[in-house]
Formats: sequence, structure tokens, C-alpha cells
Amino acid sequence: MNILIVYSHPNEKSYTFQILKQLKSLILKQNWNLEISDLYAMNFQSDMSAIEYEREGFAKRELPISEDVLTEHEKIENANCIIFLYPVWWSDCPAKLKGWFDRVYSVGYAYGQTDEYKKMKTIPHGIVICTAGHPNEFLKEIGIAQSMQNIMLDDRLGKRFENKEMLILGGTLELEKVMENHMQEIENVVERIKKNF
Ligand SMILES: Cc1cc2nc3c(=O)[nH]c(=O)nc-3n(C[C@H](O)[C@H](O)[C@H](O)COP(=O)(O)O)c2cc1C
Repeated sequence: MNILIVYSHPNEKSYTFQILKQLKSLILKQNWNLEISDLYAMNFQSDMSAIEYEREGFAKRELPISEDVLTEHEKIENANCIIFLYPVWWSDCPAKLKGWFDRVYSVGYAYGQTDEYKKMKTIPHGIVICTAGHPNEFLKEIGIAQSMQNIMLDDRLGKRFENKEMLILGGTLELEKVMENHMQEIENVVERIKKNF
């Protein structure tokens, strides 16, 4: 089993980093292969350049794709399961991860495919895990939980993934109330990955 975690948080003192550590240890216990794209640590370029836009914006599939994007494509092709892990910032993922989608989902690869160019494979399992300051109940009440789910699962993961799920680990402003439950949810996710294979 090959797992890819696309991780987006700038600071190791964060709660999201603790979640990453917990996930890592559970995954390694299963003896699965783990690759992590730690976007801030890699200094991943999240802005699309003017030259890249020539390709993406005008769907000129014949133009070259940047090396760092090709490296991410390779990681995607090797994965049976991709986990996106990030904190909710302004009701979405951090701009760094948004930029990963902008650039890595290149035309001809992740959408707008033709027979001539390499297509993204269908990934068996996609999991979105985000930490959020607000409690889940509040995020549901104001409709944000649903819109985050629509954008991440229906659009960004879309038909590129066979099984998809999203876990909102909310209520981090009062960590002592939610931490135990969050850790249990992470264990359950690993169990579900196991069942899927
Ligand atoms: C720039 C910024 C924007 C944030 N926006 C939201 C938000 O829209 N909704 C929310 O529930 N929490 C929001 N939060 C709280 C984070 O989701 C929370 O800090 C995170 O769940 C856990 O923090 P940590 O991993 O950074 O320690 C925001 C935090 C920051 C720093």
C-alpha cells in the first residue's frame, strides 16, 4: 500500500502537525509505504507563473510542465491513497495547498485529457482531513462544512478518486474537549483505508 500525504502547515508547533505525527505512526505500524509532500518544508511554489499560465490558461498541452509539478505527478501515480491534511483558514485550505491544485492539476493530466498526453490515474482512496477552530456543529449550522466538502470532495478530488471522504476535526479552540475524539477519528480513518484494500 502506497500512501501519499499532501501536508500544508508552516509550523511544527501546530496541532495539525501533531495530527500528522499520529497519522504517520499509525501508517508506519501497518508497514505501508509513506510519502509526504510537506508543502511549506519543500518551499513548494504555489503561484502559477506567467509562463505556466501560457500552458494552463490557453490549454497548450504541448508546452512543457515544470519539473516540480512533474515530481508531484509521479508521487500521485505511485499512490493508492492520497491524504490531504491542513488547517482550515478562512473556510478553505491554506493558499499553499490551493496553489498545489492550481499547478499540479495541469491541463491534459488532471482535466481536459486527450489521448496524446499522460492522464492522471484514478486513485482508489482520497481522504481530506482538516483541523478547524470552530466546532463541527457550528460549521454545519452556517453551511461552511457543506461548502468545504463540496469544493474539496466534489470538485478538487472529483472523479479522480474512487472512494472519497472528508474529516473535519473541529473545535480546536478548546482542544481539551476534542482531542481524544480527534485521535480516535484518525485511528478509524486508518482502519477504513485497511478495509478498502
Ligand atoms: C489565518 C487563519 C484563518 C483561520 N480561519 C478559520 C476559519 O475560517 N474557520 C475555522 O473554523 N477556523 C479558522 N482558523 C483556525 C484554525 O483552523 C485552527 O487554528 C486550526 O484548526 C488548528 O490550528 P493549528 O494546527 O494551527 O495549531 C484560522 C486560523 C488562521 C491562522
